[in-house]
Amino acid sequence: MKIVYDGVSFSYPSKTALKNVSCEISPGSVALVVGHNGSGKSTFLKLMNGILKPTQGDVRLEDVNTRDKRVSELARYCALSFQNPDDQLFASTVMKELRFGSENIMGDGSLVDAVSGILHLEDYLQMNPLSLTYALRRLVAIGGSMAMDTPILALDEPTSGLSQREKAYLGSLISHSKSLKKTVVIVTHDLNFLLPFADDILMLSHGEVRYFGGRDNLFDRNDVRQLMAGCGVRYPIYARMSATLGAGKYCYEGKELIDELIKRKAGAAQRTNGQHQLEGA
Ligand SMILES: Nc1ncnc2c1ncn2[C@@H]1O[C@H](COP(=O)(O)OP(=O)(O)OP(=O)(O)O)[C@@H](O)[C@H]1O
Ligand SMILES: [Mg+2]
Repeated sequence: MKIVYDGVSFSYPSKTALKNVSCEISPGSVALVVGHNGSGKSTFLKLMNGILKPTQGDVRLEDVNTRDKRVSELARYCALSFQNPDDQLFASTVMKELRFGSENIMGDGSLVDAVSGILHLEDYLQMNPLSLTYALRRLVAIGGSMAMDTPILALDEPTSGLSQREKAYLGSLISHSKSLKKTVVIVTHDLNFLLPFADDILMLSHGEVRYFGGRDNLFDRNDVRQLMAGCGVRYPIYARMSATLGAGKYCYEGKELIDELIKRKAGAAQRTNGQHQLEGA
């Protein structure tokens, strides 16, 4: 499902959080929203599922203007997992939490088993979510949103508090969402982990768009480091290593970088061999 922000501004009573934001997120893509603390990222997501309505401009989910629908209706289009999982959890067991949205809003529940498997929640299904660790509570909250099986999945800082292993579960969930052609929008400070999944990047600073476009186009820009620094975004480690080690292209994860370096080394060795053969001839 396509998501369009058209000249969107949003003001809280004491603060303008977003100013004239425009972007179009393609159906089935993964978009990362980044920016410094207070730049408006969570506000951006809350406008997507209609908890907030724009002060100016429009947010459209395909041809539905969020102004024209109640939050309960928009819940069929967009599931939002909150920045703080404890703001979301309310059911008495993990199983009920995973089933609630999927049965009461979308009326199906067919994703519940898949989600609990992908996030490794099977051993906790009968436990009270609030008795679990912070990381597990976050996974349950994310799982509850995903299990709703909406065309749009919005995740607010989903890797926060997760171990590497738990992040890998989240990665599998994002890949699964992609295979189901969902549009996934993720607010994050964790580009090191999430860049490999991204199609597009939205960079915010003080509520304004500093960049919106393809991930690769962003890293092709000469001013990418300054742009990120200006938005309080740490330059991702593998992009830094790609440049330092002369990988020849930007790599977004360790394996890709190692493969690229091996390929270049093999290419260089072949060229040297060819040179020696020419010289020996
Ligand atoms: N309910 C509110 N009332 C008033 N101001 C708010 C409210 N919620 C957020 N703000 C302010 O609006 C601005 C944007 O907040 P928002 O939560 O969208 O930023 P964020 O990029 O998600 O920040 P963080 O990285 O800290 O989560 C901030 O200055 C914040 O203090
Ligand atoms: Mg936030």
